[in-house]
Amino acid sequence: MLSKTMQEALNRQVLMEAQSSQAYLAMASWAEIQPGLKGVTEFFFKHSDEERMHMLKLVHYINERGGFAVIPSLEQPVLTFVSLKKAFEELLKHELAVSNSINELVDISLKEKDYATHNFLQWYVTEQMEEERLARECNDKLEMIGDDKSGLYLFDRDIMSMENGG
Ligand code: FEO
Repeated sequence: MLSKTMQEALNRQVLMEAQSSQAYLAMASWAEIQPGLKGVTEFFFKHSDEERMHMLKLVHYINERGGFAVIPSLEQPVLTFVSLKKAFEELLKHELAVSNSINELVDISLKEKDYATHNFLQWYVTEQMEEERLARECNDKLEMIGDDKSGLYLFDRDIMSMENGG
């Protein structure tokens, strides 16, 4: 059975993952109407789906441990970006905030002596390392590319394979 403190903290994470999903969905919709960003569009849509999966995993866990997962209302995410680079800077900022939040959850699970939740959270710890790596890699590449159109073309072409560590 989850403690009240643990349950509230996990529900805050439900909100965070839902907001991430919504933020990346907005990025996807923005990218879809830009010329030449087919790969990036696919990337953002896929990431939005992944965040929803992260949220669902939490929802099931909370409910299975005798709690009640609260489905939150969401704020309107940022809808437009001055450049692709700005969108990816936002994404990295977002992922760093999620990592902090996961770390806090791990901390709470230890304080609550909730070792099952501590164990459950390890999946998120690993996932965040990968998400941060990918977001940093995208930011570094876009920094190098600058306004170079052929560089952007290649970035868009290769982004889906970068996701797999390629
Ligand atoms: Fe579920 Fe990208 O954090």
